[in-house]
Amino acid sequence: MNPGDTILKIQDLHVEFPINIGTVRAVQGVNLELKKGEVMGLVGESGCGKSTLGFSILRLLRPPGRIAGGSIVYRGQDIVKMGRKDLLALRGSKIAMIFQDPLTSLNPLCSIGEHFVETLTTHERSIGRREALERSGKMLESLGIACDRLREYPHQMSGGMRQRIMIGLALIMNPDLLIADEPTTALDVVVEAQFLDLLGDLKNRFNLTIILITHNLGNVAQLADRITVMYGGAMAEVAPAGSLFDRPLHPYTRGLLASIPNIKLDQPKLMTMPGSPPDLVNPPGGCVFHPRCPLSIDLCPTQRPPVFSLDGHLVSCWLYRDSS
Ligand SMILES: Nc1ncnc2c1ncn2[C@@H]1O[C@H](COP(=O)(O)OP(=O)(O)OP(=O)(O)O)[C@@H](O)[C@H]1O
Ligand SMILES: [Mg+2]
Repeated sequence: MNPGDTILKIQDLHVEFPINIGTVRAVQGVNLELKKGEVMGLVGESGCGKSTLGFSILRLLRPPGRIAGGSIVYRGQDIVKMGRKDLLALRGSKIAMIFQDPLTSLNPLCSIGEHFVETLTTHERSIGRREALERSGKMLESLGIACDRLREYPHQMSGGMRQRIMIGLALIMNPDLLIADEPTTALDVVVEAQFLDLLGDLKNRFNLTIILITHNLGNVAQLADRITVMYGGAMAEVAPAGSLFDRPLHPYTRGLLASIPNIKLDQPKLMTMPGSPPDLVNPPGGCVFHPRCPLSIDLCPTQRPPVFSLDGHLVSCWLYRDSS
């Protein structure tokens, strides 16, 4: 596969959580295409469906979550229809995921080495313990951690080191797609910046394609080639990172950018977006953003906008119905 070829194509994905008061429509008709070697930032307010989308790609939704429709095609295979055996082979060795809090993802009773040995032997049955430890040691060194720390336990590591261990565990099988869900939330700003640098470096070294889920627009600005903005379970806008920051099209993207500090702009004060994210059990009709949108027109409350393509942006907003 060449850089720039499509590695993952999500079409009209719907994910729901049936609960006692109704059905949470966490992902509503999302389309997403990812090219080999690119970093896609996935941003949006809390509860907009970012993690649900990430978990769906690995079919790791927590009960009662279910994929209610659509397809997730990875290298020609639809993950939604995949059998258990293929799914197990996919997880870890082709697509890996790292999570927000490394301490809850690492077993406090197992040494770092045991974590690596288990990951390796699960996917490569023929590998011996000695070879597994050797490979793990090399991986640790490449992440800036001395290999003799394989003997230590998670509580002996700092937060930044644990997050590097998590990324080592994710990369040891040499996956080609990494989904990083808020990987830096538990880190202080200095360690966070180091971790993002490391992620960028690993992307080049391992020829990785990355989905970086975050609510921190600064993080994606540093690393992402393209950014997908989600709102209320739906895709609002997809654009190359620079272009999204310079010329956001969707009113939600504009609101989001106006609400973060920007040293380039002379901002007398930060904007806040009025209203709150939608109730996903009873989402508003038409465009999910219309109750908060300062530019809403008559079509918005009644009809869901399709995706319009404009200046390299994909934007789901009726304002652009005549421009694409
Ligand atoms: N196991 C679950 N049961 C019921 N509802 C759920 C479950 N997991 C997620 N949801 C709901 O799905 C919606 C999307 O949640 P999700 O965790 O994907 O959002 P998010 O964008 O990742 O938010 P955050 O930035 O806070 O991590 C929310 O309304 C959430 O309450
Ligand atoms: Mg999340």
